[in-house]
Amino acid sequence: MAKFDTIGVLTSGGDAPGMNAAVRAIARRAIQNGIKVKGILGGYSGLVNDNMIDLNARSVSNIVHRGGTILYTDRCLEFKEEEGMQKAIATCRRHNIDAIVAIGGDGTFRGATDLSIRGIPTIGVTGSIDNDVTATDYTVGFDTSMNTVIECVDRLRDTCQSHARCDVVEVMGRDCGEIALKAGIASGAIAIAIPEIPFDEDAAIERINAARASGKRSMLVILSEGVFSTDGKPYGEVLCDVIQEKTGIETKFARLAHVIRGGSPTLRDRLTATEMGTYAVDLLLEGKSDVIVAEVDGKIVNYDITFALTMDKMYKNKLKPDSLDAFSAEQIAQMKKVCDFRASEIRRLYDIHLGLCQ
Ligand code: F6P
Repeated sequence: MAKFDTIGVLTSGGDAPGMNAAVRAIARRAIQNGIKVKGILGGYSGLVNDNMIDLNARSVSNIVHRGGTILYTDRCLEFKEEEGMQKAIATCRRHNIDAIVAIGGDGTFRGATDLSIRGIPTIGVTGSIDNDVTATDYTVGFDTSMNTVIECVDRLRDTCQSHARCDVVEVMGRDCGEIALKAGIASGAIAIAIPEIPFDEDAAIERINAARASGKRSMLVILSEGVFSTDGKPYGEVLCDVIQEKTGIETKFARLAHVIRGGSPTLRDRLTATEMGTYAVDLLLEGKSDVIVAEVDGKIVNYDITFALTMDKMYKNKLKPDSLDAFSAEQIAQMKKVCDFRASEIRRLYDIHLGLCQ
């Protein structure tokens, strides 16, 4: 078993409900194993600027149910430069921090690799509302954000129904449409627009007209912030005007934005964060480094970070000509399998939606 004096825990990138539950699990699992814990404040900038607090069993009390992150977060540009990374390593050495657990999304994991290869074993735990890390079926925060979307949309539905209107609701997710797709299905949306699947605007207008002709009063369209019009504008507001113009139905636009990133985490997020956080410390104790904790087919597993990030690029069509050089044919086939499955799941759910949105 590997020996550690102190481990650091940080949260980086966009905050996500459940991050605190992960911090609690990491801190308590480490303490259980006789390891001291530092909470790095403000993500990687806390390492660069030496900003941290001691965590003990009591300082992580009463946080499992809280949204946001008690450790604060940041998207730290300085850490992307060698000088910033060296400052971060020096901070670790000064405080006897001999390993880190970093909670966040793909940007956070790139930082975790940078630390690992410079001698500080680092494990990544997924925390992002977007569910956009291809190697894991689930990122902590996703369930809470979708539940917040459906709560907001249900409220909009009430007023839409009263006024016989249409509402176009834009939700976050960056270039991943999963929040819009799943929350859209669960809200009974008449149309869903996501970056992964071309949106058939004419068919949506036809459906809205047909539904109104058959007596439907409230119409909800859910779309992801990652969908843009042909001239590069956020598509939500454009679509709102198109619907009103082509159907004559009064149509309102709502952008939920950061509302869906806050709030108390659901059971799913608290539990997954707890399992992933505990497992991350166990991985360190086993001597692992430079891996992310993922959920695959309901099991908590780990993936080498470079493998996971390359798979992510493959899914997002961002591979460079030499990106796959370091991988075996077997590994490339595994990446392709995961990417194909993910794309087919999105297609399958979208088809279910299309069959039901009458
Ligand atoms: O990655 C999480 C996320 O909330 C995305 O859905 C969104 O595009 C982005 O972060 C917003 O970032 P910021 O909080 O920096 O505006």
